[in-house]
Amino acid sequence: MKTAILTISTSVAAGRNEDTSGALLAELAGAAGAEIVAREVVSDDRAAIEAALRRYVQSGAALVFSTGGTGLTPDDVTPEATRAVIERDAPGFAEAMRAESTRHTPMGMLSRGVAGTAGGTLIINFPGNPKAIRELFPVIAPTLQHAVATLHREPGGARGADGGHAGH
Ligand code: MTE
Repeated sequence: MKTAILTISTSVAAGRNEDTSGALLAELAGAAGAEIVAREVVSDDRAAIEAALRRYVQSGAALVFSTGGTGLTPDDVTPEATRAVIERDAPGFAEAMRAESTRHTPMGMLSRGVAGTAGGTLIINFPGNPKAIRELFPVIAPTLQHAVATLHREPGGARGADGGHAGH
């Protein structure tokens, strides 16, 4: 599962902070069977986030995990940039993640992260805090293989070794 990790943080992009969250996300994704093909840091800039996401979709990444920029400050534009790129919502990921977050902190409600698909790519927004990534990655990890397999299935229900004629 070719996977891109996108860190969205103006302070990390400026070199003032380390990309702890991106590193952790890459580590956990790798352990879940993802092949990390790209890691990038952009500032809280809607156009830059959109451009990076579109590039990953075009390059054929199966998964894109972003971290940061999901909150309520005026600078937080990750959900808007993601929504501009995705073609279909996959709200179950964000719903399950927010539900889990509120078990750890009421502030979990503040994350506006979204998830959805564009082409053969599933994009999921994580909050920026490494603690949040540690708490939330296990929520989505068990679904990833199946999510990517279904996303890459041929239209019309074609699947499996019979060349896609099951049920015909
Ligand atoms: N979710 C979990 N699981 N754990 C956390 O510590 N922090 C919250 C929230 N979600 C948190 C969490 C806080 S304090 C904020 S402001 C929002 O995520 C948005 O974070 P972001 O703007 O860095 O994306």
